[in-house]
Amino acid sequence: MSLEADVLRLKDERDAVLLAHNYQRAEVQDVADFVGDSLYLSRKAMESDRSVIVFAGVRFMAETAKILNPSRTVLLPDLKAGCALADAITAEQLRDWKAAHPGAVVIAYINTSAEVKAEADYCCTSSNAIKVVEQVPPDREILFLPDMFLGEYVRKRTGRTMHLWVGDCPVHAKLSPEVLARARTEHPGAPLIAHPECGCASQALPHVDRVLSTDGMIRFAEETRAPEVLVATEVGILHRMRRLNPSTRFSPIDGGAVCPFMKEISLTDVRDSLAERRYVIDVPSETADRARRSLERMVAA
Ligand code: 13P
Ligand code: SF4
Repeated sequence: MSLEADVLRLKDERDAVLLAHNYQRAEVQDVADFVGDSLYLSRKAMESDRSVIVFAGVRFMAETAKILNPSRTVLLPDLKAGCALADAITAEQLRDWKAAHPGAVVIAYINTSAEVKAEADYCCTSSNAIKVVEQVPPDREILFLPDMFLGEYVRKRTGRTMHLWVGDCPVHAKLSPEVLARARTEHPGAPLIAHPECGCASQALPHVDRVLSTDGMIRFAEETRAPEVLVATEVGILHRMRRLNPSTRFSPIDGGAVCPFMKEISLTDVRDSLAERRYVIDVPSETADRARRSLERMVAA
C-alpha cells in the first residue's frame, strides 16, 4: 500500500482531520483535508468534531488548535517544526515590556508561544491584523509583537500609535524592497504580491501590487488572468497556486525563500504521527485559559 493510502486509511481509523499550512511540502498538502493560512486553519481546528487533529504546520499552530479545541488530541508530526519569529519574544520579555507601558493594549501575532498569547489582549494573523488593530479604542496605546515589518505595515495603514517589538522572520526579512524592485525590473508588467512579513513591507509598497496573507495570495492566484505573477513569500505556496491556475506562471522573487521549520514534516512523519499518536501537543490549562480570550478575538475578527 502506498504512503498516501496509508495516511488516508489511518486518518479514518483514528477519526482524525489533517490540517496543512500553505508552506507545507506538496505531498503533505495533497493528502490534507484542509490547506490554508493560519487564520483559516485555526477556524478549522476550532470547528473540528474529529477526535484527533494532526497539524502539518509549526508548533504555534498546533498549540493554537489545542487552545481553541481543548477536548481534542492535537498531534504535531515533528517537534522540530518551530518558528524563528515565535522565538523572538518570551513571556518574560513581554511582561517587562508591558510594565514599561502600563495601560497599553497588547496585540500578539499568532506566530508566538502559548505563554506569550496568555499575556496578550488580542491575537491576530496576517489576514486580519488591520481589523484587529481597528477594534482597539483610538485613545489606547498599542504594543504589537513580534514582527516589526508586519507591525510597521499595519501602523502605516491604520495611522495608529503602535510600539513595535523588534523581531522578524528570517525567511521573509531578506525579501527587501531592493530585492522586490529588482524583480520588478526583470519582469516588467508582472503583478507582484507580497506577504506582510517581508522586509520593510511598508517601504516596499511602491513595488508591490498587493500585500496579502498566504490565503489572500492563493485567492489572487486563482482569480488573476495575468500571464505571470511575482510571489514574495515562502516557496511552498507555489504548489497550490500552480495547481489552481495552470495558465499563469508563478515566479518566486527568491527561489531560496524556504522555511526550514515548515519543511520538517514529511509524509512519512504524518503517517507515523497517525499510527503512533505522536507528538501530542498540550498546553497547561492555566495558560490555555488566558490565551483563549485573545485567540477567540482573533478568530472572530
Ligand atoms: P499566514 O497566516 O499568512 O499563512 O502566515 C503564517 C506564517 O508563518 C507566515 O510566515
Ligand atoms: Fe516562522 Fe518565518 Fe517559517 Fe513562517 S516562514 S513559520 S514566520 S520562520
